[in-house]
Amino acid sequence: MSHDDFPTDRPAVVTCGLPYANGDLHVGHLRTYVAGDALSRGLRRIGQQTAFVCGSDMHGTPVAVNAAEAGVDPREFALDYHETYAETFPQFNVEFDNYGHTDDATNTELTQEFVRSWVEEGHVHEKEIEVAWDTEEDQPLPDRYVEGTCPYCGEQARGDECDEGCQRHLEPGEIEAPVSTLTGNPAEYRTREHKFLRLSDFQGYLQEFLDRIEGTDNAKNQPREWVDGELQDLCITRDMDWGIDYPTEDDTEDFVLYVWVDAPIEYVASTKQYSERVGKSKYDWESVWKFDGERRHGTEWDDDWTTAGGEIVHVIGRDIIQHHAVFWPAMLRGAGYNEPRSILATGFVGIDGKALSTSRSRAVWADEYLDAGFHPDLFRYYIATGAGLETDVDFSWDRFAERVNGELVGNVGNFINRALLFAHRNFDGTPDADVSDDVRDRIETTLSAFEAAVREYDVRALAELATDLSDYGNEYIQRTEPWHLVDEDPEEAARVIRDCVQLAKAVAVVMQPVLPGKAEQLWGQLGETGSVADVSLSTALEAPPETFDEPDQLFEQVEDDHIAELNEELQTRMDDASEDEDDGDEEDDIDLEPLETDRISFDDFEGVDMRVGEIRSAEPVEDADKLLKLEVDIGHEVRQVVAGLAELHDIGDLPGTRVILLANMEQATIFGVESNGMVLAAGDEADLLTTHDDAPLGTRVQ
Ligand code: 2FM
Ligand code: ZN
Repeated sequence: MSHDDFPTDRPAVVTCGLPYANGDLHVGHLRTYVAGDALSRGLRRIGQQTAFVCGSDMHGTPVAVNAAEAGVDPREFALDYHETYAETFPQFNVEFDNYGHTDDATNTELTQEFVRSWVEEGHVHEKEIEVAWDTEEDQPLPDRYVEGTCPYCGEQARGDECDEGCQRHLEPGEIEAPVSTLTGNPAEYRTREHKFLRLSDFQGYLQEFLDRIEGTDNAKNQPREWVDGELQDLCITRDMDWGIDYPTEDDTEDFVLYVWVDAPIEYVASTKQYSERVGKSKYDWESVWKFDGERRHGTEWDDDWTTAGGEIVHVIGRDIIQHHAVFWPAMLRGAGYNEPRSILATGFVGIDGKALSTSRSRAVWADEYLDAGFHPDLFRYYIATGAGLETDVDFSWDRFAERVNGELVGNVGNFINRALLFAHRNFDGTPDADVSDDVRDRIETTLSAFEAAVREYDVRALAELATDLSDYGNEYIQRTEPWHLVDEDPEEAARVIRDCVQLAKAVAVVMQPVLPGKAEQLWGQLGETGSVADVSLSTALEAPPETFDEPDQLFEQVEDDHIAELNEELQTRMDDASEDEDDGDEEDDIDLEPLETDRISFDDFEGVDMRVGEIRSAEPVEDADKLLKLEVDIGHEVRQVVAGLAELHDIGDLPGTRVILLANMEQATIFGVESNGMVLAAGDEADLLTTHDDAPLGTRVQ
């Protein structure tokens, strides 16, 4: 089964994952919002009625923990961040039609309605489970109040998510070796009663849903193993005060709904708020989110799904695929709502070749970018063209300057300026001549590529259209040399400049989704009235106004000394953070892991085959921020090993490094990559063990 091509005659909604209202926004967050915004603009441009909505994620332990640290009431704390986000997004030209939050009345009512529907349909049941408990504080430890080891991949994990390893959601009680984040004490497990959504009721539905879902490959493929295996019940309540109350007749329950219940429902609530603001006749939220026909009952899903609802497109970070591709469709289905048409899961943003880490201050903040005085569209362009949507993108100020200066200033800006300046000076605007067939064809090809990019959710291809067309324009000017033609053949000069002005207009139209501010500026330079956001794609082929003024430069050169300053600021911040961490080391000494009391025999030790090796190459492992694939030469052979060094070592420094390899470690496949040994390292910073003289490669450590 496949979906109708965009534009369809049903309304669409594009949503972006809700940011937790618990900290400052950085470039890593912005990637998702820029992608969602560009896509919404692209959809509108090809004639798809589209609302773009989002909101702040106000509940749960991510907010409660940070609010407690700040000594502020969680509602006040989250509202403060909510307001900051609502102001920051437009400064990046991310223009939501509605930006709500999960703690408002619309979301509270809708969330409770969803839960009531699940209860009515028999999808909710109660059971006793073991929850982590801090005995010193005598309180339960939901989600981020507890840390431990992921039972699936062995990485350090938070109570409800394996954020550093396999990214899986963890149910209460699943985490191993739990430790309270309140006191640092080992947590104990205690029995509590909680409510559960029976996901297994939806297993058949979810399997079919995954057959028809569109979007990035990671979002389509990763959930397969989860929905084909045994689907665990989803615990939908938490022992906390901060959150939306579980709806009961008598209000006797002393828990709130899990944050991942009310968070995605905000997608619906935010659409509803938009619909109520503009009027149902302009945009009807129910025709998007609800089925055309009657509400579905029970677990029947064999009705004609294509007649249902509108086009729901979710743009999210790749760490929350399971929530969107498994839990959310089941939640929607259980309440009689429409399902997502597509899920686009964006890769992460790295900084200077390493993973972004707010705790290490290795981050570029949204405010910092804006304070540096750069136009938001420059960042939008950089991040949209840095890689395909699902691949990680690295941000560095140097690369930013290089790309802005080369591609936007040197290519797009240069073409526009040459074309419009020449037209203004010689013809006072658009020359009175026909557009050549070649140029018309080239523009038509670009417009088709625009439609295809939107239909394929290919934000990078969409962003590259303006640079490709400007490249063509620059070559065209070089080839035709209009500066000679003006005297030698004025009629030909008029034709050539007419072509160039038309190309400039087409650049404005196609660049608008990714560079909306710059597109408006160019629109004005062409003497056009109204907004370029409101025109259809084919407007790119219509004649620009006969007269326009002398144009200003569309893009400004980024200066080297400005970049040097920004690099220095970032470096100083990271150094300070690492000094703070080092200061803490003295305290860490006290927390040294206790020595093993069980002794091993010399024979046991002889069974451990450790060898001197040298790293030959290091490369990232797809979808795993912390991991690197290493080729390690151990004399006899070169071993492929997966190691968790990506965030802790500069990938470029590793080749040539001498290491000690545990050569007879069991083989393992980690994130689809075979690992054949283990590189030995000490401590949280992965200080690599090495030799200090010239022991030949392959020498056994004894
Ligand atoms: O992971 C997060 O940052 C969550 N705040 C995303 C929520 S998206 C949704 F489902 F609402
Ligand atoms: Zn894991």
